[in-house]
Order: sequence, then C-alpha cells, then structure tokens
Amino acid sequence: MGQNVVQKIIDAHIVEGVPQAGTEVGITIDQTLTQDATGTMAYLQFEAMGFDRVQTEVSVSYVDHNTIQEGFENADDHAYLQSIAKKYGIYYSKPGNGICHQVHVERFGVPGKTLLGSDSHTPTGGGIGMIAIGAGGLDVAVAMGGGAFRLTYPRVVKVNLTGKLQPWVSAKDVILKVLEEVSTHGNVGTIIEYGGEGIANLSVPERATITNMGAETGATTSVFPSDEVTRLFLEAQERGSDWCEITADADAEYDRIIDLDLSTLEPMVACPHSPGNIKRVADIAGTPVDQVLVGSCTNGSLRDIYVTAEAVAGKHIAENISFGIAAGSKQVMEMTAKDGSLAKLIAGGGRVLETACGFCIGNSQAPRTDAVSFRTSNRNFYGRSGTNSADIYLVSPETAAAIALAGTVVDPREYFAQEEYPRFSLPEKFDIDDSMIVAPAEDGSSITVQRGPNIGNPPDKAPLDESLCGEATIVVGDKITTDHIMPAGSRLKYRSNIPKYSEFVFERNDPDFFKKCMKNKKAGVDNVIIAGDSYGQGSSREHAAICPMYLGVKLVVARSMERIHKANLINFGIVPAVFENPADYDTISQGNTLSVEHIRDAVESGSERVSMKVGDREIVLKLELTDMDRKLLRAGGKINAVREGILS
Ligand code: F3S
Repeated sequence: MGQNVVQKIIDAHIVEGVPQAGTEVGITIDQTLTQDATGTMAYLQFEAMGFDRVQTEVSVSYVDHNTIQEGFENADDHAYLQSIAKKYGIYYSKPGNGICHQVHVERFGVPGKTLLGSDSHTPTGGGIGMIAIGAGGLDVAVAMGGGAFRLTYPRVVKVNLTGKLQPWVSAKDVILKVLEEVSTHGNVGTIIEYGGEGIANLSVPERATITNMGAETGATTSVFPSDEVTRLFLEAQERGSDWCEITADADAEYDRIIDLDLSTLEPMVACPHSPGNIKRVADIAGTPVDQVLVGSCTNGSLRDIYVTAEAVAGKHIAENISFGIAAGSKQVMEMTAKDGSLAKLIAGGGRVLETACGFCIGNSQAPRTDAVSFRTSNRNFYGRSGTNSADIYLVSPETAAAIALAGTVVDPREYFAQEEYPRFSLPEKFDIDDSMIVAPAEDGSSITVQRGPNIGNPPDKAPLDESLCGEATIVVGDKITTDHIMPAGSRLKYRSNIPKYSEFVFERNDPDFFKKCMKNKKAGVDNVIIAGDSYGQGSSREHAAICPMYLGVKLVVARSMERIHKANLINFGIVPAVFENPADYDTISQGNTLSVEHIRDAVESGSERVSMKVGDREIVLKLELTDMDRKLLRAGGKINAVREGILS
C-alpha cells in the first residue's frame, strides 16, 4: 500500500514504537525552534538537565515576542538567550529579524525534516513540507539534547484542493473555511495533509498561512507536499540544495478526505471570541470598525504586505480607523521598503509597526474600550488583544485593506473592482541578509552565560505523593485557554522568574487564586483545578503548567483537555484527569474538599480509573496516560526523569 506525505516523513524518523494510528511512537527531531517567551525556560531546563551541546541538525532561538524594552527584564532575557545560544550550538535570531515561523520558513526549513518548536504555531513549517510540531519548552529542551519526541501516531485527514482562488480571496480564507469544516475540537491525534491539483496554485508563503492557522483546529500539525512550488521558493531563498520532492503515492490512504474547490471560496471571518466562530464577511457587512492590523506569523509575508499596499495605494484610510502593518520578517520589511510598498502604506495613513509579534500577543496596539478590531492574525480569544471589552475578528489581508479604507465591514469583492486585484508573483531571488542571525561558537566551553536578576531557575518538584488531599481551589468553565491560566502581555516579562510570574495565574478568573494557593501550600493542602471542556487550548505556553506546579497544584480535572497543555502538565508532574461522567463537573464547587487515595499506585500500576472523594461522594476520574506519561508523573516531571536516567 502506498504512503501519504505524513507517513513518509514520520516513518523515516521513528525510533520507538510501531507506525499504527493511535499508538505512541518516538521520533527523532532534526530541527528545533524557540521564541523568547518560552525559550528562556526551555534553555534553563536544557542547562538543568546537564546537556553540554545541542544534538540536532539545526536549533534556532528567536526573539520576537517581548521586544519592547521598557524595563531591564526583557533585555536581560535577550542577553541570556544570546549567550546561551553561542555556548551550546544554537543560532540566535536577534529582535528585529522577524517572527520565528516566518523566518524559519525563509531561512531554515527543509522539506522532509522534523521540526519541534516551543510555540503552538510551529506547524507553519508544514508549508514547506516539514512535519513541524508545537510542544512545551521542556520537550524542546529534551529534543535539543538528542531525546526522542513522543506523539500519537496520527490519523491523516486529506484536504483535497481543486481550482484556483478568485480575486480578493486568499490563503487565509482557505484555512478559515477548513476551520468551519473541521472546527477547533475533535482533531487531537490527527494531521491535516493538503493535496490535489489546487495546491500548484498556492505559493509556499500562502501554504504557510494555511498550516500556521491549522494550529487552531487542535490537530497535531498540517503539511503540504514538497513539489516544484517548494523548489522554486527555496531557489529564491538561495537554498535550492535543501529541496527534495515528497509527494503522496497515488494509492495512499487517508482516514478522511475533505474536498475543497478553491474557486468557490468567499472572503471569510472568524468572529469573537474563537478562531472557530466562522462566518462569511458578507454576513457581517456594515459592522462599524475601529482598528485594522495586518501582519503576524499568519499574514506577514512579502505577498501579504505587497497586496495590502497595492490595495491601499493612492487612497486614504477612513478617519475612524487606526491601521497598523507589521511585516513578518526583516527580509519582508526590507523588500517592501525597497519596492515602495511601505511608502504606499504610509502615504495612505498606515502605521508601520515593528517586525515582531506585537499586536498578536497583546504587547502593542491594545484597542480602545469596547473597540471592534479586524486583524490578520490567528487568535481572537477573549482578552488576548490587551483589552477585555474589545471584539477581535480575524480576516485576510485583502479583507483588512477593504475595511481599513471603507471604515466599516465590507466584502473586498464588493469594495474593489475585480481587475484592481494586485498580481503578485514570487521574486526569482529574495534579498538575503542573515546578519541578524548570530551563529554559535564552534567551541562554546569558554563562553559565560549572562544571567541578569530576572533570570531564575526552574522550580523543583518532588516525586508524586502516594495520596492527594486538598481542595477545589478554582472551578473554571469551558474553553479555558493558556492565556486565561497564565496571562501574557505586560506580565510576560516575568517569564524567567517563576515566583513572580506565578502571582498572575488565573488573575482574570479569580484575583485571589495566588493567595489561596500559597496559603494551602504552606498548610500542606494540595491545590486542584476543576475545569470544563477544552481546558488549556491556545498557545503552547508551558508556564501555564510550571506556575501552577510552583503554586502546589497537584491535579487538574476537566471534562476534556487539549493535547499540548496536557503534555505540559505531565512534564511538570501535575496529574491530568478527565471526568468519566461529564455531568460530575457540575457537582463540584470552589472550596470543596477533595481527596484521591493511592493516586501514585493508580498512576504507576497503569489503572485507567481512579476515585476522587468530594465530601462524602465518590467521583470516577479517567487517567488517559501512556506508559511514559506514568513514568514522568511518578518521577515528578520530565526534568527529574532525565536526571534519573528514565529518559535518554
Ligand atoms: Fe507571535 Fe502571534 Fe505568531 S504571538 S508567533 S505572531 S501567533
């Protein structure tokens, strides 16, 4: 039987287990990436595990999230990241060089390789034919040390593309349509593979937009074949020798096939407050708008900035709109400066923002109270913009440009004439200048790592206790994101200082959570989090597990839990469990006394169920854990496991 693209790449990297859907396999990791928000902790963990040099083919440390230097904290982190990269064999991409995923596709991504990144949008690399997976920083640290990455051998969903996109409809509309089709849940353990004759009409940056926002489906990753389009892109990046062809065999099989005719797609929009809340732009036409932002790792490519600039050229932004543009990389910024795109945007009233995550992570451009903001980024969770009362919508650059000019929601096909659509073709040669990528030292042994006062140590965790006795310290609802658990924005500068950052856990849900946890911890009472569906969705932020661990959280019980967050909980020794009977969730209140007798025995012995006592009632919890998960939990997390030699 033939193989699909996913099977070809994964099977070539398996070092443990058998390739069978639903079973756990270990794969070797060729490349890693970190960004600064997750990177400092990943490298602190890399050091704590005692590795002396990265074992991967390529590892890159990007600074793109917290580039604002309003205090010493971020600058301290950057100095730490630069020195540790030099010492241990890691490339360092300086602030200003661009957003990790955009730069990685441009300068490092290689078809057929595996990439593990401590950022949930690492699947962007699937646009160039890699198996690119987002994970917690600790998993990335282990991979840098040469350890295997464990994942469920995936089910593969094929999205079969035919036809060609119409003017004013683009790659963002493709992924919004896919999100409408597969939604944001129920895709754990699957990989989305794109194929069909329609892919020939999508460039690598367009494919990367699609695989980037594929992260919102909850699938492990998304991938395109590596074909002639990929070869031309790599040639234009002067990396033609990195290319190889990877396509699905004619008789490859898939678990599901979704047919999508590109020529029938319309401009789409994700409405507040979920990337899965999809409508047609035409359905919300006339909605007043305050802010429009183009950029981010989803839509910051040369094509995206060029098309936006051409759409705006010779016109002016509506007076009620604040319009910002952030190129995804220095390469894009430089090329759009040279070709006049930036000048057209500035002339039209655009605000040119730094080449960084910026507005996407709530670090800049927080909208006004009750604002309506249209953005080309990939997430619109409640509060992520920095303004809780704002409504955030996600659209294509084409739709964003039309709205910025009209001052209200408008379908770009109605606003612009068909023949006005800017024809963009990929340059034969991109401008290559890697001067903001610092290469590691050949021998880093004499390099001193710079540790300012903001650089702490990963907190220690004792092995799992035999029994748990505590309280439901917090009860939260459905779709709690890692942004709810561990806010970013202005708090992110404390990411290397766990005791300080922990003060902000769940600050939006319960401002007293920190105090309650610390009081319990001192009194020897275990803290337990009770949650509804899709707990931990959103980013790969492992601080959403590290800080609760520091606060003495021992158990999280949810109706359902997201993949990366569940793995992070296990990595930091917190037991993840789900209710056998989902209705039991409604019977637990904040402050209830809880206990689980012999939880360590249950974890160690492979039990799939354990009983939790709530007052005088018994509630059955499911432990959906692999053998390795159980070993990690028993040891008190992955750092302990590496130190004890449980993990290679
Ligand atoms: Fe940065 Fe937003 Fe992408 S935070 S990595 S631009 S999802």
